[in-house]
Amino acid sequence: MTSFSPECWVAQHAPNPGVSYAVTLWRVDAVPVDQFDRWNRECLGLRKALREAAESGNTKQAQLIADKLNSLNTNFSNHILSLRARAGRELTGGNDLRAVLQADKGVLGFELGNAAVWVLLQLTDERGVEQHIENWRTEAPEALGDVESILQSCSAQQADQWQQDHRAKGQKVFASEEAAQATLFRHTTVLGREATDALLPTEGKVILDATLGGGGHSELLLQCGAIVWGIDRDPTACAAARKRLEAYGSHMHVLTGCFGDARELLHNEGVGSVDGIVADLGISSPQVDTPQRGFSFLTEGPLDMRMDPQSPRCAADIINDATETEIADILHLYGEERAARAIAHRIVQQRAISPITTTTRLADIICSVLPRRSKQHPATRSFQALRIAVNDELGQLEILLKEGFSLLRSGGRFAVITFHSLEDRTVKRFFERVSKPELDRPEWPGPRPNPDYAARVITRKPITPGAEELSSNPRSRSAKLRVLEKI
Ligand SMILES: C[S@@+](CC[C@H](N)C(=O)[O-])C[C@H]1O[C@@H](n2cnc3c(N)ncnc32)[C@H](O)[C@@H]1O
Repeated sequence: MTSFSPECWVAQHAPNPGVSYAVTLWRVDAVPVDQFDRWNRECLGLRKALREAAESGNTKQAQLIADKLNSLNTNFSNHILSLRARAGRELTGGNDLRAVLQADKGVLGFELGNAAVWVLLQLTDERGVEQHIENWRTEAPEALGDVESILQSCSAQQADQWQQDHRAKGQKVFASEEAAQATLFRHTTVLGREATDALLPTEGKVILDATLGGGGHSELLLQCGAIVWGIDRDPTACAAARKRLEAYGSHMHVLTGCFGDARELLHNEGVGSVDGIVADLGISSPQVDTPQRGFSFLTEGPLDMRMDPQSPRCAADIINDATETEIADILHLYGEERAARAIAHRIVQQRAISPITTTTRLADIICSVLPRRSKQHPATRSFQALRIAVNDELGQLEILLKEGFSLLRSGGRFAVITFHSLEDRTVKRFFERVSKPELDRPEWPGPRPNPDYAARVITRKPITPGAEELSSNPRSRSAKLRVLEKI
């Protein structure tokens, strides 16, 4: 039997003081009968001995037996988690189960295996452990229709330790809706007035805010009477914006998802076209300022960098699994890093010693190749590159430009704010492609009509932040706004 690593998820919230519970659930037939029988017999024997010791008042003996029982259960639980389920009988419906566990406010973390799931639970409302399990079983019947379970208690301190250890190992972090709302989400809107004015928002106009973030651009548009559909792939941002903009009632709609899917997301809501689109690319300040999100090389955190904490591949997956050439290509293409090959080589050497799972370790590895020579930290370009790769940012942008443009009504405007040359180049090229009436090439006898011609560029030169914005928000320094109008 081959062992494998279960998929681990850690909640953003810390446990409350008190007792937590570790629950292991597995499909009855996923574990060989003889192994189950052996564990069950030993368990029953220890439970009987524990009862007897407790009844006779022998607390020392009872404690010894309780410890034995605990370690028996921990070992068995680890064993079944590392099992690959027997052919055809694996724990199916994993996606449903993952969603159910992530939505449960009491869940502090879980490990989802092929044969079993291990859940760290804290009771936060009047429901008991059994009721939580019953709820998971009802919501994810395919995964938990027919399961055996082991239940163990642990202190808040142990639960906290588990969360910390798993975060440090770079496990995937999720935020429950409640935790997300509790998080302070502060992002200073860049080129707010310039971008919203460019969309000519008036009463009743329908505008798509493709990068909702903290809701800054949306709010300015709502203040002009527009109806706003806001999309963000980060559920934390969506929860915070929903809360911030709730006073605008039915004028504000929040959708969690990728802007590359904007067309489908809006169609599902019965919206076939819009009067304007704003896209303020990149990440928001709370994403970069939260060490657990793993975007920053300045603070220790798991090497994550996913805007959507549920997307399958985080930065640590790339750094530890991709080939040296693939890593070098990412650093070169998306970070325009000249030392890409040398950095990739050092990464591969270092990960052979132990997996690279934290932001600071990766930053140190990069610094060992590239000593600091300018004001810019040597890891800046590599971290940007990884972030772009993890979130497929340029691929998403290409789709947004194409699909977003097709959503625009004629006279509708598209405003895009970029933060680095790769994004700006992509936007500029697209704007040129749809705004040139004619195309010409040296090998053609003369210019030909451009089949994509359907727009005019409003900003011949990009709009950049003024001195006042630059001094109050240094993060706006590389912002460029380009605006297009469909004709
Ligand atoms: C710069 S922030 C937007 C800030 C917002 N305009 C404001 O003023 O508060 C960019 C946001 O876009 C989101 N984002 C980036 N790429 C995305 C994508 N492909 N799909 C959906 N959201 C995306 C990020 O999660 C982030 O919250």
